[in-house]
Amino acid sequence: MENEFKERLAVHYDELKWLYCELYSGCEDFFEDFLDILEDSYEKRNANLKKRDRLRKKDQDWYKRSDLSGMMLYVDAFAGNLKGVKDKLDYLVETGVNYLHLMPLLDTTDGKSDGGYAVSDFRRIKPSLGTMEDLEELTAVCHKRGINICMDFVMNHTSEDHEWAKRARAGEKEYQDRYFFFENYDIPSIYEQYCPQVFPISAPGNFTWLPEIDRHVMTTFYPYQWDLNYRNPVVLNEMTDNLLNLANKGVDIVRIDAVPYIWKELYTNCRNLKQVHSIVRILRMVTEIVCPGVLLLGEVVMEPDKVVPYFGTVEKPECHMLYNVTTMASTWHTVATMDVRLLKRQMDIISSLPKEYTFLNYLRCHDDIGWGLDYEWLKQLGIEEVAHKKYLNDFFTGKQWNFFGRGELYNDDPSLGDARLCGMTASLCGIEKFSYEKNEELLEQSIRCALMLHAYMYTQSGIPILYSGDEIGQENDYSYHEDPLKCQDSRYLHRGGFDWKKAEKRKDKLSTESEIYSGIQKMIRLRSGCKVFESGADVWTVNTYNDHVLAIGRYYQGEKLIAVFNFSDEPETAWISENDGIYAELFTGEKREIVNVELPAYGYCWLYKRFEQ
Ligand code: GLC
Repeated sequence: MENEFKERLAVHYDELKWLYCELYSGCEDFFEDFLDILEDSYEKRNANLKKRDRLRKKDQDWYKRSDLSGMMLYVDAFAGNLKGVKDKLDYLVETGVNYLHLMPLLDTTDGKSDGGYAVSDFRRIKPSLGTMEDLEELTAVCHKRGINICMDFVMNHTSEDHEWAKRARAGEKEYQDRYFFFENYDIPSIYEQYCPQVFPISAPGNFTWLPEIDRHVMTTFYPYQWDLNYRNPVVLNEMTDNLLNLANKGVDIVRIDAVPYIWKELYTNCRNLKQVHSIVRILRMVTEIVCPGVLLLGEVVMEPDKVVPYFGTVEKPECHMLYNVTTMASTWHTVATMDVRLLKRQMDIISSLPKEYTFLNYLRCHDDIGWGLDYEWLKQLGIEEVAHKKYLNDFFTGKQWNFFGRGELYNDDPSLGDARLCGMTASLCGIEKFSYEKNEELLEQSIRCALMLHAYMYTQSGIPILYSGDEIGQENDYSYHEDPLKCQDSRYLHRGGFDWKKAEKRKDKLSTESEIYSGIQKMIRLRSGCKVFESGADVWTVNTYNDHVLAIGRYYQGEKLIAVFNFSDEPETAWISENDGIYAELFTGEKREIVNVELPAYGYCWLYKRFEQ
C-alpha cells in the first residue's frame, strides 16, 4: 500500500515531466515542488478515500453505468447550509439522486461573487454555508448512502478579494505576476481585438482599470474576477494543491470551471489553446496518481469541435466527462420550432462518437442557454443565425400570444443579435403561463412537455443531471429584480430558493407537482434498472417520416429500446415499424408491436424488449 503512490507516479512520471517542462522550460525546481504537493496530498488523504480510490481503480467504468443519476443545487437555496443538506438527504434519495453537484461553496464576497464563481479563499467554505468540517462530514455521510459529490473548482480566476489579489493590489510584484497586470492599455487593446466578450452587457471588455495603483488587470468575466496567469508555474502548483485539497474533503467529481479560458496568448482569442489541453492532461495525471477515484468534469460550453478534444485520446485522456451543451441547446430549439431535424442530426453526431466519451446531459443548469446551434446546417432549412436567435428568444420570452415560454434575456447585445436565455424548465415549457391562466387542458399539455423533455434526457447515454426544482415543476423566481446585488444578472431568475411547500405537494396524487415528480422518479428508476441505458449501448436514430417526432433506438446485451418523442403541440404518428415482435411500454406496461406509434401532443414512450440470447 505504501508504495502505491510511487507506483502510480512511475506510470505517469515521464509524460508529466515532459508536459510540465514544455510549459515551463527551465523550471525543474518548480516541478520538484509540484511533485512534493502531490506526495503531500496523497499522504493527507484519509484511509476511507484511499480505499474508495482502489475500488474505483479496479472498476474504472463505475460512472458509465445507467444507475448514476444526478442533481445540481445551490446549498443555500436548497437547505440553507451544508448541515441542512445533510438533513435533506432523504428527499434526494427518494428522488433517485446519487450524484449531487453542490454549486460553489467556497468563500466569496457578497455582491461580487458571480454566484460563488469568484473565490476569495480556496481553503474556506463561505461561513453562511458552513465549514470545511461540515463539508467533510456531508461527503462522508453521502458516500455511506451511495451519493457521489461534485464540486466546482474555479481555476481561471480568483476574486479580487483573494489574498493574492490583495497583495498584488498592494504592489507586491510576486503576486502581480500571478495575474495579468499592464501599466498602460497598449497590450490590453491588442487582446481586445482578438478576444470576444463573455458578458458584453453586464461586464463589457476583458480588462479592468485599477485607479489606486494605475494598472490594468485582465478580467475576462466580471471586473472582480481576476484571470490567473498559468504561465507562472507557481499558479499551477498552488492551484493544483487547492484542487487536491478539495478532493481530500471527499469530492468525487471536480468540475473544472471555465477551463477553455485558462491560457492566454496575444493575437489569439484566448480560448482552447493547446496549453490548456496540456494543463488538463496534467491535472488528469495528478488525479490518477493521488486520487484515482476522483473524476474531472470539464466545463466547456463551446461548439462540438471544441468540446470533444477535452476528452483527450485513449492513451492520453483529459476529462472524464463533458457537458453535452449542443444537445441541450438543440433540444430547446426543437421545443420552439417543433421540428426535430436538427436534434436528430445532433443525436447522430453524438452517437457516432466513441462510447468511451461520457457526456453529462442536462436540460437546464444555473447558467443561461446560449444558442450555439449548427447554423451552417440550418441554412438548408432556410434558417439564418441572427433572425433565428431572435425567434428563439421571442418564443421563450412569450413575445406573441401563442408563445408559451416565460423566460428572460441574458446579456442582450443588440449590436451582435446574440442574446442568451434564462428561465426554469417549467416556465420555458408553458407550465407557468397555463397555470396562471388556469387553462387546465394546456397545463396538462405543458406538464407532458416537461416530462417528455426529461424522458428524452434520460434516454441519452451518459450522466443525466436534473436541475433542482425541475423535479417539482418549480417556476421562475422574479424576486431577484428587487435585490440590488442580483438584479443585473438575469441568471438569478432560475436560481431561486427551493420551494419545500411545493415539494410537499408531490405526495398529493392529483397535483401538478406529483405528476412531474413521480414521472421523473419513475424515469430514474427504470433507467437504473435496465442495462439498455448503459453507456456501452449502441444508439441510433430511427426514421419517423414525421419532422415533429424523434425516435431513438438503443441496444445493449440483448435489450432493445425504441424511445419516441413528439415535440409537437398536436397528436402525431411516428411512421415506424420494427417488425420484431412485442414490446413493453415501460411507463404503462402496455404490450404492443412497433407499428405506427401514435402519440398525443408532447407524448413520449419507451418501448422495450429483451431478446433471448
Ligand atoms: C462558468 C460558470 C458561470 C460563471 C463563469 C465564470 O461558466 O458556470 O456561472 O459565471 O464560469 O466563473
